[in-house]
Amino acid sequence: MPAAKLKTFIQEATRHFSGPLDPQTATGRLRPLLADLVAADDWLDEAFCKPHPQYYQQYLLHCDPLERFSVVSFVWGPGQKTPIHDHTVWGLIGMLRGSEISTEYQPRNGRLEPAGETTLTPGTVEALLPDRNDIHLVRNAHHDQVSISIHVYGGNIGTVRRHVFDPATGAPKEFVSGFSSPYMPNVWA
Ligand code: FE2
Repeated sequence: MPAAKLKTFIQEATRHFSGPLDPQTATGRLRPLLADLVAADDWLDEAFCKPHPQYYQQYLLHCDPLERFSVVSFVWGPGQKTPIHDHTVWGLIGMLRGSEISTEYQPRNGRLEPAGETTLTPGTVEALLPDRNDIHLVRNAHHDQVSISIHVYGGNIGTVRRHVFDPATGAPKEFVSGFSSPYMPNVWA
């Protein structure tokens, strides 16, 4: 019953949102739940594991009815990567399959400078906080296989107005990511 794991995550996460949660509290509470979810790669429906030959994919797995959080599977084809971008809401990234590398950027002297790399391997969870480490570039660590990570964000991330940044100048440009598919998993059957 693979969908049961996602259903359990959704229900347990929702229970934590009885009132407003600041980013630190939200990521602190949901981190162990996400760690449980990505501890074994045996539950994500194939439909939400499909890479695209050109673009990394963002499949919505769940959105809280009040859009307080959303859960997304990111599917990285071999060698695929994001532009430098921010989120403006808190985030948690749990590695499910393969490996990805996140390069953090910090604004310095009106530009963006690389501020360290984190390599995620299956089972590990990284937190993103708007006022601490909100800007990064993520790439598949593998050039010959698909990697998949499960992301939880403090809002409906597909509709959040956020930014990509020019690597040379650091100039921001607004974008809204949307999602790669109109379909979501049915965990309620
Ligand atoms: Fe990101």
